[in-house]
Amino acid sequence: MKMKKLLPISVAVATIGLSSSNIFAAEKLNVICSASIDWCQLMVNEFEKETGVNVKMTRKSSGETFAQLRAEKRNPKVDVWWGGTGDPHLQAAEEGITYKYQSPNLNKLQKWASNQAEQSDFRTVGVYAGGLGIAYNHDILKKKGLPAPKGWEDLTNPAYKGEVQMANPNSSGTAYTALATIMQVFGEEKGFEYMKKLHKNINQYTKSGSAPVKSAARGENTIGIVFMHDAVKQAVKGFPITVVAPVEGTGYEVGSMSIVKGARNLDNAKKWYEFALRADTQTKAAQAKAFQVPSNLSATAPKEAPRLEDIKLIDYDFKTFGASDTRKRLLAKWDTDVKPIPR
Ligand code: G6P
Repeated sequence: MKMKKLLPISVAVATIGLSSSNIFAAEKLNVICSASIDWCQLMVNEFEKETGVNVKMTRKSSGETFAQLRAEKRNPKVDVWWGGTGDPHLQAAEEGITYKYQSPNLNKLQKWASNQAEQSDFRTVGVYAGGLGIAYNHDILKKKGLPAPKGWEDLTNPAYKGEVQMANPNSSGTAYTALATIMQVFGEEKGFEYMKKLHKNINQYTKSGSAPVKSAARGENTIGIVFMHDAVKQAVKGFPITVVAPVEGTGYEVGSMSIVKGARNLDNAKKWYEFALRADTQTKAAQAKAFQVPSNLSATAPKEAPRLEDIKLIDYDFKTFGASDTRKRLLAKWDTDVKPIPR
């Protein structure tokens, strides 16, 4: 007791100083990342190095993340959702799950990225873009004597029975982009007829969007419906993968980022947001073999990145296909009319 009373003022001040710097050291941020795990990890490492903030990151597919954030709406545990296809980000914005934040740097972005912000009343923003495509293992195709697919229609050829893989559109944003693309290319009625025919050729619906081309690279699958940049990544690694831009035209994603409403680490979430929009940060994507088109106009796209100008793109209707009603309705129809059909 006596000792405590005699504690000199300088020591007392030093003790207070120490405890406040401990609080500072405990600065943290919870991120859900829906891009490829190696890019997620690179982003975390760079951000931690620059800010000293301790990041806890989980990789989850886009649809799965949306479901988690919605379930946690009253008690949010995540601060930032970085990456993943734009449609579920738009849906989260519409449902008030994400936070309105207008970055002062929106004018440095591609139109498709700032449109994403404007369209969502500034609850999400575009961080990258990429076209949807078809990828196949050309060694297996040759060995099996199968024709090379050139577009969507070709994938329903009965010769491909058991040879095609795509993700489940409920969990994966890639597969939802595929479903929405088919609806826009063929119209909804014919589109669902198409999905039923395609289903006959599907060997497995995976959870994550890039899994079908990773398994094709390993020789465990022949054809995948995936983002073209995910297929290019496997080809660049030396796997026998050919990438196709479908002849009928194809959809694309505006990979997005949102801050969660009620984020416990809001200041750090904003720091991450600005960090992720910066040109130098986006240019580093190439280090993780992430070959998307960056959203910052001054960022350098990796030379391997498929150029959107070279692909026959449809005028993807993000307003309709990112809307809650459309997404719920299409997924419910796919769940009842397509998925249960015996193959
Ligand atoms: C890959 C792609 C991203 C895409 C993401 C969606 O990581 O590189 O461009 O946004 O898949 O993931 P998901 O598992 O939701 O299809």
